[in-house]
Amino acid sequence: MKKITIVGVGRVGESTAQILAKEELCREIMLLDIHEGVPQGVALDIQESGALLRFDTRVNGATDPAAMADSDIVIVTAGIPRKPGMSRSDVLDTNLAIIDEIVDNMLRYAPNAMLLMVTNPVDVLTWHAWKRSGWPRQRVFGQSGALDTARMATFIALETGYSIKDVSPLVLGGHGDAMVPLTRFTDIAGINIEHFLSLETIEKIVERTRKGGGEILDLKKSSSAYDSPAAAVAAMVDAISHNRHRIMPCVSILEGEYEQHGIAMGVPSVLDETGLIKVIELNLNERERADFQHSAEVVRADINRIS
Ligand code: 2OP
Repeated sequence: MKKITIVGVGRVGESTAQILAKEELCREIMLLDIHEGVPQGVALDIQESGALLRFDTRVNGATDPAAMADSDIVIVTAGIPRKPGMSRSDVLDTNLAIIDEIVDNMLRYAPNAMLLMVTNPVDVLTWHAWKRSGWPRQRVFGQSGALDTARMATFIALETGYSIKDVSPLVLGGHGDAMVPLTRFTDIAGINIEHFLSLETIEKIVERTRKGGGEILDLKKSSSAYDSPAAAVAAMVDAISHNRHRIMPCVSILEGEYEQHGIAMGVPSVLDETGLIKVIELNLNERERADFQHSAEVVRADINRIS
Protein backbone atom coordinates (compact mmCIF):
# COMPACT_ATOMS: atom_id res chain seq x y z
CA MET A 1 0.00 0.00 0.00
CA LYS A 2 1.46 3.31 -1.08
CA LYS A 3 -0.58 6.10 0.49
CA ILE A 4 -3.29 6.52 3.11
CA THR A 5 -4.95 9.85 3.79
CA ILE A 6 -6.61 10.58 7.11
CA VAL A 7 -9.11 13.42 6.92
CA GLY A 8 -9.63 15.06 10.29
CA VAL A 9 -6.70 15.42 12.66
CA GLY A 10 -8.54 15.16 15.95
CA ARG A 11 -7.66 12.59 18.55
CA VAL A 12 -8.92 9.58 16.55
CA GLY A 13 -7.13 10.79 13.41
CA GLU A 14 -3.86 11.40 15.21
CA SER A 15 -3.95 8.13 17.13
CA THR A 16 -4.76 6.24 13.91
CA ALA A 17 -1.82 7.88 12.14
CA GLN A 18 0.53 6.90 14.96
CA ILE A 19 -0.44 3.23 14.70
CA LEU A 20 -0.39 3.11 10.89
CA ALA A 21 3.02 4.77 10.84
CA LYS A 22 4.51 2.54 13.52
CA GLU A 23 3.13 -0.62 11.92
CA GLU A 24 4.38 0.58 8.50
CA LEU A 25 1.02 -0.25 6.94
CA CYS A 26 1.74 2.07 4.01
CA ARG A 27 4.62 4.06 2.58
CA GLU A 28 3.06 7.52 3.08
CA ILE A 29 0.43 8.94 5.41
CA MET A 30 -1.18 12.26 4.51
CA LEU A 31 -2.98 14.09 7.30
CA LEU A 32 -5.62 16.55 6.11
CA ASP A 33 -7.39 19.11 8.26
CA ILE A 34 -8.97 22.52 7.77
CA HIS A 35 -6.92 24.15 10.55
CA GLU A 36 -3.69 25.47 9.01
CA GLY A 37 -0.62 24.20 10.84
CA VAL A 38 -2.39 21.41 12.75
CA PRO A 39 -1.96 18.59 10.19
CA GLN A 40 1.59 19.71 9.41
CA GLY A 41 2.51 19.90 13.11
CA VAL A 42 0.97 16.56 14.01
CA ALA A 43 2.61 14.94 10.97
CA LEU A 44 6.04 16.26 11.94
CA ASP A 45 5.59 15.16 15.55
CA ILE A 46 4.70 11.60 14.46
CA GLN A 47 7.49 11.62 11.86
CA GLU A 48 10.06 12.50 14.51
CA SER A 49 8.91 9.59 16.67
CA GLY A 50 10.01 7.30 13.83
CA ALA A 51 13.66 7.63 14.81
CA LEU A 52 12.82 6.11 18.19
CA LEU A 53 10.06 3.72 17.17
CA ARG A 54 12.05 2.62 14.12
CA PHE A 55 9.67 3.17 11.21
CA ASP A 56 10.25 4.50 7.71
CA THR A 57 6.68 5.58 6.98
CA ARG A 58 6.59 9.13 5.63
CA VAL A 59 4.05 11.33 7.43
CA ASN A 60 2.92 14.62 5.86
CA GLY A 61 0.21 17.14 6.60
CA ALA A 62 -1.79 19.59 4.50
CA THR A 63 -4.93 21.68 4.39
CA ASP A 64 -5.33 21.48 0.61
CA PRO A 65 -7.64 18.54 -0.25
CA ALA A 66 -5.66 18.00 -3.45
CA ALA A 67 -3.02 16.43 -1.20
CA MET A 68 -5.19 13.29 -0.99
CA ALA A 69 -4.35 12.50 -4.64
CA ASP A 70 -3.17 8.93 -5.32
CA SER A 71 -4.41 7.62 -1.97
CA ASP A 72 -5.27 3.94 -1.76
CA ILE A 73 -7.48 4.54 1.27
CA VAL A 74 -9.03 7.73 2.65
CA ILE A 75 -9.95 7.36 6.31
CA VAL A 76 -12.58 9.90 7.39
CA THR A 77 -12.47 10.92 11.04
CA ALA A 78 -13.47 14.58 10.56
CA GLY A 79 -16.50 15.93 12.36
CA ILE A 80 -17.67 16.97 15.78
CA PRO A 81 -17.70 14.30 18.50
CA ARG A 82 -20.65 13.91 20.85
CA LYS A 83 -20.60 15.34 24.35
CA PRO A 84 -21.84 13.56 27.50
CA GLY A 85 -25.62 13.09 27.30
CA MET A 86 -25.66 13.18 23.49
CA SER A 87 -26.32 10.20 21.24
CA ARG A 88 -24.23 9.62 18.11
CA SER A 89 -27.27 10.74 16.07
CA ASP A 90 -27.20 14.17 17.75
CA VAL A 91 -24.12 15.13 15.74
CA LEU A 92 -25.56 13.96 12.42
CA ASP A 93 -26.58 17.29 10.90
CA THR A 94 -23.25 19.01 11.53
CA ASN A 95 -21.21 16.05 10.36
CA LEU A 96 -23.32 15.53 7.24
CA ALA A 97 -22.15 18.80 5.70
CA ILE A 98 -18.52 17.95 6.51
CA ILE A 99 -18.85 14.50 4.90
CA ASP A 100 -20.44 15.95 1.76
CA GLU A 101 -17.41 18.15 1.21
CA ILE A 102 -14.98 15.28 1.83
CA VAL A 103 -16.78 12.95 -0.59
CA ASP A 104 -16.78 15.68 -3.24
CA ASN A 105 -13.05 16.16 -2.74
CA MET A 106 -12.52 12.42 -3.05
CA LEU A 107 -14.48 12.34 -6.31
CA ARG A 108 -12.21 15.07 -7.58
CA TYR A 109 -8.79 14.11 -6.21
CA ALA A 110 -8.90 10.44 -5.20
CA PRO A 111 -11.55 8.82 -7.40
CA ASN A 112 -10.05 5.34 -7.14
CA ALA A 113 -9.53 5.23 -3.38
CA MET A 114 -11.43 3.26 -0.75
CA LEU A 115 -13.35 5.33 1.77
CA LEU A 116 -13.21 4.09 5.35
CA MET A 117 -15.73 6.04 7.43
CA VAL A 118 -15.14 6.56 11.14
CA THR A 119 -17.12 9.75 11.81
CA ASN A 120 -20.37 9.27 13.72
CA PRO A 121 -23.11 8.38 13.28
CA VAL A 122 -21.00 5.99 11.26
CA ASP A 123 -23.75 3.79 9.78
CA VAL A 124 -25.76 6.72 8.44
CA LEU A 125 -22.70 8.58 7.18
CA THR A 126 -21.30 5.48 5.45
CA TRP A 127 -24.61 5.03 3.65
CA HIS A 128 -24.74 8.72 2.76
CA ALA A 129 -21.13 8.79 1.50
CA TRP A 130 -21.78 5.68 -0.59
CA LYS A 131 -24.87 7.27 -2.18
CA ARG A 132 -23.08 10.54 -2.86
CA SER A 133 -19.97 8.87 -4.28
CA GLY A 134 -21.79 6.53 -6.65
CA TRP A 135 -18.99 4.01 -5.98
CA PRO A 136 -19.41 0.25 -5.53
CA ARG A 137 -19.94 -0.84 -1.92
CA GLN A 138 -16.61 -2.61 -2.11
CA ARG A 139 -14.91 0.78 -1.79
CA VAL A 140 -17.15 2.50 0.79
CA PHE A 141 -17.43 0.99 4.25
CA GLY A 142 -17.14 1.95 7.90
CA GLN A 143 -15.58 1.03 11.19
CA SER A 144 -17.70 0.04 14.14
CA GLY A 145 -17.82 -3.71 14.70
CA ALA A 146 -14.05 -4.03 15.06
CA LEU A 147 -14.29 -1.63 18.01
CA ASP A 148 -17.48 -3.06 19.47
CA THR A 149 -16.14 -6.63 19.36
CA ALA A 150 -12.85 -5.41 20.90
CA ARG A 151 -14.83 -3.94 23.79
CA MET A 152 -16.85 -7.11 24.26
CA ALA A 153 -13.66 -9.21 24.10
CA THR A 154 -12.10 -7.01 26.77
CA PHE A 155 -15.03 -7.41 29.16
CA ILE A 156 -15.05 -11.21 28.63
CA ALA A 157 -11.28 -11.50 29.16
CA LEU A 158 -11.44 -9.38 32.32
CA GLU A 159 -14.39 -11.36 33.69
CA THR A 160 -12.99 -14.83 32.98
CA GLY A 161 -9.28 -14.10 33.42
CA TYR A 162 -8.50 -15.90 30.14
CA SER A 163 -6.27 -14.46 27.42
CA ILE A 164 -7.93 -11.89 25.21
CA LYS A 165 -6.11 -13.56 22.32
CA ASP A 166 -8.52 -16.49 22.60
CA VAL A 167 -11.70 -14.43 22.92
CA SER A 168 -13.67 -14.10 19.70
CA PRO A 169 -16.94 -12.17 20.00
CA LEU A 170 -19.29 -10.94 17.29
CA VAL A 171 -21.27 -7.70 17.37
CA LEU A 172 -23.62 -6.78 14.54
CA GLY A 173 -26.02 -3.94 13.86
CA GLY A 174 -25.81 -0.18 14.10
CA HIS A 175 -23.05 1.49 16.14
CA GLY A 176 -25.37 2.71 18.88
CA ASP A 177 -27.12 1.49 21.99
CA ALA A 178 -29.22 -0.87 19.84
CA MET A 179 -26.18 -2.75 18.52
CA VAL A 180 -26.50 -6.53 18.56
CA PRO A 181 -23.82 -8.47 20.47
CA LEU A 182 -24.29 -12.10 19.43
CA THR A 183 -23.43 -14.36 22.36
CA ARG A 184 -24.29 -17.49 20.35
CA PHE A 185 -21.35 -16.62 18.06
CA THR A 186 -18.98 -15.61 20.87
CA ASP A 187 -16.37 -18.06 22.12
CA ILE A 188 -13.13 -18.49 24.00
CA ALA A 189 -10.82 -20.84 22.08
CA GLY A 190 -13.82 -22.22 20.22
CA ILE A 191 -15.85 -22.87 23.40
CA ASN A 192 -19.04 -20.82 23.70
CA ILE A 193 -18.95 -18.27 26.54
CA GLU A 194 -21.95 -19.90 28.22
CA HIS A 195 -19.49 -22.60 29.29
CA PHE A 196 -17.59 -20.02 31.38
CA LEU A 197 -20.07 -17.33 32.38
CA SER A 198 -23.58 -17.27 33.85
CA LEU A 199 -26.39 -15.92 31.69
CA GLU A 200 -26.68 -12.99 34.10
CA THR A 201 -23.01 -12.05 33.68
CA ILE A 202 -23.26 -12.45 29.90
CA GLU A 203 -26.25 -10.11 29.86
CA LYS A 204 -24.26 -7.51 31.84
CA ILE A 205 -21.38 -7.80 29.34
CA VAL A 206 -23.81 -7.38 26.43
CA GLU A 207 -25.24 -4.21 28.02
CA ARG A 208 -21.79 -2.82 28.81
CA THR A 209 -20.70 -3.47 25.22
CA ARG A 210 -23.74 -1.61 23.87
CA LYS A 211 -22.91 1.40 26.02
CA GLY A 212 -19.10 1.03 25.66
CA GLY A 213 -18.51 4.35 23.90
CA GLY A 214 -20.76 6.19 26.35
CA GLU A 215 -18.99 4.67 29.36
CA ILE A 216 -15.69 6.19 28.25
CA LEU A 217 -17.28 9.51 27.29
CA ASP A 218 -18.96 9.75 30.72
CA LEU A 219 -15.64 9.10 32.44
CA LYS A 220 -13.52 11.46 30.35
CA LYS A 221 -16.27 14.07 29.85
CA SER A 222 -14.30 16.21 27.41
CA SER A 223 -13.50 13.50 24.86
CA SER A 224 -14.82 10.28 23.39
CA ALA A 225 -12.65 7.18 23.13
CA TYR A 226 -9.84 7.43 20.62
CA ASP A 227 -7.16 4.83 21.33
CA SER A 228 -9.41 1.81 20.83
CA PRO A 229 -11.26 3.33 17.82
CA ALA A 230 -7.87 4.05 16.22
CA ALA A 231 -6.69 0.49 16.89
CA ALA A 232 -9.91 -0.80 15.30
CA VAL A 233 -9.32 1.29 12.18
CA ALA A 234 -5.72 0.09 12.03
CA ALA A 235 -6.89 -3.54 12.24
CA MET A 236 -9.10 -2.96 9.20
CA VAL A 237 -6.27 -1.24 7.32
CA ASP A 238 -3.94 -4.11 8.21
CA ALA A 239 -6.43 -6.58 6.70
CA ILE A 240 -6.60 -4.51 3.53
CA SER A 241 -2.94 -3.67 3.13
CA HIS A 242 -1.84 -7.28 3.72
CA ASN A 243 -4.64 -8.69 1.55
CA ARG A 244 -5.56 -10.95 4.45
CA HIS A 245 -9.16 -11.84 3.50
CA ARG A 246 -10.04 -11.27 7.16
CA ILE A 247 -13.62 -11.63 8.30
CA MET A 248 -14.43 -8.58 10.41
CA PRO A 249 -17.69 -6.89 11.32
CA CYS A 250 -17.70 -3.75 9.17
CA VAL A 251 -20.33 -1.14 8.38
CA SER A 252 -21.40 -2.45 4.99
CA ILE A 253 -23.97 -1.32 2.47
CA LEU A 254 -26.66 -3.99 2.53
CA GLU A 255 -28.18 -5.07 -0.75
CA GLY A 256 -30.73 -7.57 0.49
CA GLU A 257 -28.58 -9.33 3.09
CA TYR A 258 -30.24 -9.66 6.48
CA GLU A 259 -33.49 -8.63 4.71
CA GLN A 260 -32.18 -5.05 4.46
CA HIS A 261 -31.90 -2.61 1.54
CA GLY A 262 -30.95 1.07 1.46
CA ILE A 263 -29.01 0.99 4.68
CA ALA A 264 -25.47 0.52 6.01
CA MET A 265 -24.94 -1.50 9.17
CA GLY A 266 -22.39 -3.64 10.93
CA VAL A 267 -22.25 -7.20 9.56
CA PRO A 268 -19.44 -9.74 9.15
CA SER A 269 -17.59 -8.82 5.97
CA VAL A 270 -14.46 -9.93 4.16
CA LEU A 271 -11.64 -7.41 3.63
CA ASP A 272 -8.93 -7.86 1.02
CA GLU A 273 -6.62 -5.49 -0.85
CA THR A 274 -9.51 -4.29 -3.04
CA GLY A 275 -11.79 -3.47 -0.12
CA LEU A 276 -14.91 -5.09 1.23
CA ILE A 277 -15.44 -7.99 -1.11
CA LYS A 278 -18.19 -9.93 0.62
CA VAL A 279 -20.91 -9.70 3.25
CA ILE A 280 -21.38 -12.90 5.20
CA GLU A 281 -24.99 -13.63 6.01
CA LEU A 282 -25.65 -15.58 9.19
CA ASN A 283 -28.67 -17.67 9.94
CA LEU A 284 -30.00 -15.64 12.86
CA ASN A 285 -32.54 -17.06 15.28
CA GLU A 286 -35.81 -15.32 16.02
CA ARG A 287 -34.52 -13.15 18.87
CA GLU A 288 -31.32 -12.17 17.05
CA ARG A 289 -33.31 -11.30 13.93
CA ALA A 290 -35.69 -9.13 15.98
CA ASP A 291 -32.75 -7.35 17.65
CA PHE A 292 -31.09 -6.76 14.27
CA GLN A 293 -34.37 -5.47 12.84
CA HIS A 294 -34.76 -3.08 15.77
CA SER A 295 -31.19 -1.81 15.30
CA ALA A 296 -31.93 -1.31 11.58
CA GLU A 297 -35.02 0.74 12.43
CA VAL A 298 -32.92 3.07 14.60
CA VAL A 299 -30.38 3.59 11.79
CA ARG A 300 -33.14 3.94 9.19
CA ALA A 301 -34.87 6.69 11.18
CA ASP A 302 -31.76 8.87 10.70
CA ILE A 303 -31.36 7.87 7.05
CA ASN A 304 -34.98 8.82 6.38
CA ARG A 305 -34.49 12.15 8.13
CA ILE A 306 -31.63 13.18 5.82
CA SER A 307 -32.96 11.65 2.59
C1 2OP B 1 -17.04 5.04 20.36
O1 2OP B 1 -17.85 4.13 20.38
C2 2OP B 1 -16.52 7.27 19.43
O2 2OP B 1 -18.24 5.92 18.53
C3 2OP B 1 -17.02 5.92 19.16
O3 2OP B 1 -16.23 5.22 21.27
